[in-house]
Amino acid sequence: KDGAISALRGRLLWFVDDPHAIGEAAHRYVEDGLLVIEGGLIKAAGEASELLPTLPAGAPITDHRPHLIMPGFIDAHIHMPQTQVVASYGAQLMEWLNKYTFVEEQKLAQQGHAEKLSAFLLDELLASGTTTAAVYCSVHKQSADAFFAESHRRNTRMIAGKVMMDRNAPPALTDTAESGYADSKELIARWHGKGRQLYAITPRFVVTSTPEQMAASQRLVAEHPDCFVQTHINENRAEIAFARELYPDAADYAGIYEDYGLLGKKSLLGHCIHMTKREWRAFAEAGAVAVFCPTSNLFLGSGLFDWQRARHESVKVAVATDIGGGTSYSMLRTMAEAYKILQLQGQSLSAFDALHAITLGNAAALGLDHLIGSFEPGREADVVVLDPAATRAMAHRLETVRDLAEELFVLVTLGDERNVVSTYVAGERLSHCSTN
Ligand code: GUN
Ligand code: ZN
Repeated sequence: KDGAISALRGRLLWFVDDPHAIGEAAHRYVEDGLLVIEGGLIKAAGEASELLPTLPAGAPITDHRPHLIMPGFIDAHIHMPQTQVVASYGAQLMEWLNKYTFVEEQKLAQQGHAEKLSAFLLDELLASGTTTAAVYCSVHKQSADAFFAESHRRNTRMIAGKVMMDRNAPPALTDTAESGYADSKELIARWHGKGRQLYAITPRFVVTSTPEQMAASQRLVAEHPDCFVQTHINENRAEIAFARELYPDAADYAGIYEDYGLLGKKSLLGHCIHMTKREWRAFAEAGAVAVFCPTSNLFLGSGLFDWQRARHESVKVAVATDIGGGTSYSMLRTMAEAYKILQLQGQSLSAFDALHAITLGNAAALGLDHLIGSFEPGREADVVVLDPAATRAMAHRLETVRDLAEELFVLVTLGDERNVVSTYVAGERLSHCSTN
């Protein structure tokens, strides 16, 4: 079965480069296309007329015409323990953390709860067409074990880590510099590189980590340079003031992470809204990734991410839902909100920019573009099949579109999980339950 060849037929769309940099030449679109899969990897992508004769006799072909076939979406920042925090009323970051988030996260100490939330999150992501995500678990070591076990069972390529926090959180939610280090180390040994699982060293943010824990994180990074680092920065004014108060000797917020060796090529820093010129430069020099979380930044009233500035400063950008500060699991909905955030700043985002961002763009920002994010031969066959006319309003609107760019812009602006017909993980089709 492993070496068996199969194929998907439909309208293929994928990226080979950044459309913002090189325009139309960045995408590949094949109206009657065939995606050939062998052993869970892409074997070929191109014209059905050319590839059909190359298939061995009896190779199964799934006909998805007239639907779009794209690489699975990638979400660069999401919190597994917050699926029951989404849509909590009336607070900005620090109050929202204390009043809602830290309350729910304590429940992950209960037997079976992390398993339940992990299964729910993976179901919901896959139903939304997302096949890879960078995931924060809770402070409990078993929350990361539960998430990785569930992801490994499904063979999804996931990045995750146990949150480390040793202050400014309820006692039930804190570890210590030593236990956070030891637990992370154990999880890395158990999960990093096991099947498709990857580990992210996860000090939550400087507000909840003592200098001792930051130093312990630095040791983890030095000992495991192939692991990711994920954390938060410059999201909210009160948060920034608190961070500066706790680390008065640092140049600025980014300087705190720099001082502990946590700003590097594999570092994913959520939000990056209120950045100084020096901080942008520090990111560029370190090759660190700014993670833009549109629905969260709007919902928590945090501010407007300046993507143009990031480009200007040559800082890598990834995009993400940030559930449960964010309000949608859908990367399509996320990009519709990104468009509006850029509109408020006189910037723009074409449908090609948006669809690149959630596939090859995020893969490249994560340094995983040799594995996922496109239909180049040899990439893992994580695939989403989309019906742009899935809703009455969308079918109606599509009556008047004149070209692919317009059709895709309707898909990005009005689309969500209702447009997802099928999701494939390493070539295997899922019979996911629809969420609508
Ligand atoms: N900063 C520290 N923790 C969090 C979190 O859980 N969500 C968001 N949006 N920001 C944070
Ligand atoms: Zn977050």
